[in-house]
Amino acid sequence: MVNISVLVSGGGTNLQAIIDNIESGELSGARIVQVISSREGVFSLERAAKAGIKGKVAKDTKQLLEQLAAENTDLIVLAGYMKVLEPEVIGAYRRRILNIHPSLIPKYCGKGFYGKRVHQAVLDGGETVSGATVHFVDEGVDTGEIILQRQVPVEPDDTADTLAARVLETEHVILSEGIKKVMAQLPEKGGL
Ligand code: GRF
Repeated sequence: MVNISVLVSGGGTNLQAIIDNIESGELSGARIVQVISSREGVFSLERAAKAGIKGKVAKDTKQLLEQLAAENTDLIVLAGYMKVLEPEVIGAYRRRILNIHPSLIPKYCGKGFYGKRVHQAVLDGGETVSGATVHFVDEGVDTGEIILQRQVPVEPDDTADTLAARVLETEHVILSEGIKKVMAQLPEKGGL
């Protein structure tokens, strides 16, 4: 069983998609051992509680590393996590940290490209296609190796909100698919 720690900062619809896919059997062989938020009082923590999953808040990198180790984390999934992970976290979990980004990386990503700003930039760029990307997290911002991408059409009358909603639906699907793909590549866990 692969132990997944999900890191969040907000509403948690991507977290909810993973919870639902595990419960439905779509994402088998994995369990969410905890949800760690960068701040108090976010709906993600309520989603975790409803699903009977431990919810924590990490106030700094030291605490985050302790919490990750305490639950024997195999994979870290950033699901709307709005802080940059320190190099010591990246190093401790090399090629075991996944992020979901709401554009077709390498376009419209990197510093300052998050949330609705991404979709507004896509519209301002006159794009007819956008999408979502699951990628490994390295020391850069949205620069890690791409695991999975899926295109989403941009409609002529789209606003940042309508495009965001359409891309979010795809995020919910490819995040679990990306987790499955990485799980298949993980070295066998030692021991029993
Ligand atoms: C999503 O749009 C995701 O692409 C981005 O942050 C948002 C998180 O949404 N990283 P939610 O908290 O999962 O609903």
